[in-house]
Amino acid sequence: MEDIVTAAQPEKRKIALSGIQPSGIFTLGNYIGAVRNWNDLQDSCDCLFMIANMHTITVRQDPATLKANTYRAYANLLSAGLDPDRNILFVQSQVPAHAELGWVLDCYTMFGELSRMTQFKDKSAKNADNINAGLFTYPALMAADILLYKADVVPVGLDQKQHVEIARDIAARFNGIYGSVFTVPEPLISKSGAKIMSLAEPQYKMSKSDPNPNACISVSDKPEDIVRKFKRAVTDSEATVKRGEGRYGINNLIEIYSIAAGLTPEQVEQEFEGKGYGEFKVKVAEAVIEMLRPFRERSEDLLKNKDYLDQLQRQGAEKAARVAERTMNKVYKKVGLFR
Ligand code: AMP
Ligand code: TRP
Repeated sequence: MEDIVTAAQPEKRKIALSGIQPSGIFTLGNYIGAVRNWNDLQDSCDCLFMIANMHTITVRQDPATLKANTYRAYANLLSAGLDPDRNILFVQSQVPAHAELGWVLDCYTMFGELSRMTQFKDKSAKNADNINAGLFTYPALMAADILLYKADVVPVGLDQKQHVEIARDIAARFNGIYGSVFTVPEPLISKSGAKIMSLAEPQYKMSKSDPNPNACISVSDKPEDIVRKFKRAVTDSEATVKRGEGRYGINNLIEIYSIAAGLTPEQVEQEFEGKGYGEFKVKVAEAVIEMLRPFRERSEDLLKNKDYLDQLQRQGAEKAARVAERTMNKVYKKVGLFR
């Protein structure tokens, strides 16, 4: 892993980097759309996975809750099967280079391109009393996260595609001025589960920060809560378990069930032909409970030992910093900044 930045081996493994915000407890959407896929990548790529806590403060956070959620997020990565010896698993704020490169990249990112970011528009509509500069320049910090490690691929859910694209533009712009400093990254979006929708308003994505507790399954929800939430999930009046245009609720439940039960959407439709929503929703809940059970139990165990988590977080940050420092030295030199 150490040599990933300077390596010139003929058959270099690809570098993958992704991040997740500890802005709440991970949702089923995070598990299906992100963390689950990361697990598969560790065999084929050199991977870095980051808890993006600096991104989280673009929206006001309670400090104690933020720390607790950061530990939990880190424990969740481990519980999902990510191996801290084979991957670099770290917390963003423990690697100062992210803030340093974030600032430099702010100066190579255009007001106009940031204004077009849909996440900025959504979040500023939701937090109208706190449209801060960090919320606006967030994609430049995310570009720094990616470019520091010369990531080739960035596995994300569909909602982050636009941010990976702006990272590509920033990298290409910087390289255009200073020569080949950064690797231009590709987004990696899985075909299924790239966008799990809210259970209460299924035309919107399931989100950790949704204030409606019925909208969202969290990975630490108890089985009885999962059953209750799926039973209440908004569907439509058609009462058939079949995908269809504009059938957001049922499409989403079919997608979730097919992933949790390991079936194709067609097989799900066949299984529930002639059956009602009530029966289907209970089956979805049961499959999700089984999918999440080992993950939830491992996380709870790990959270009992904060010293162990602290130690792994520190080791991860040290490994990440060694790679990031080399990129920072190069960037400062190119730009003409003393270090
Ligand atoms: P976030 O919760 O915004 O920090 O997102 C962390 C990762 O989870 C990113 O790769 C997102 O694209 C992915 N993600 C978040 N919400 C969903 C969702 N509802 N469906 C699928 N992927 C998601
Ligand atoms: N912005 C991402 C999200 O909210 C999290 C993130 C931060 C990230 N830095 C990243 C994802 C770098 C991929 C790569 O989901």
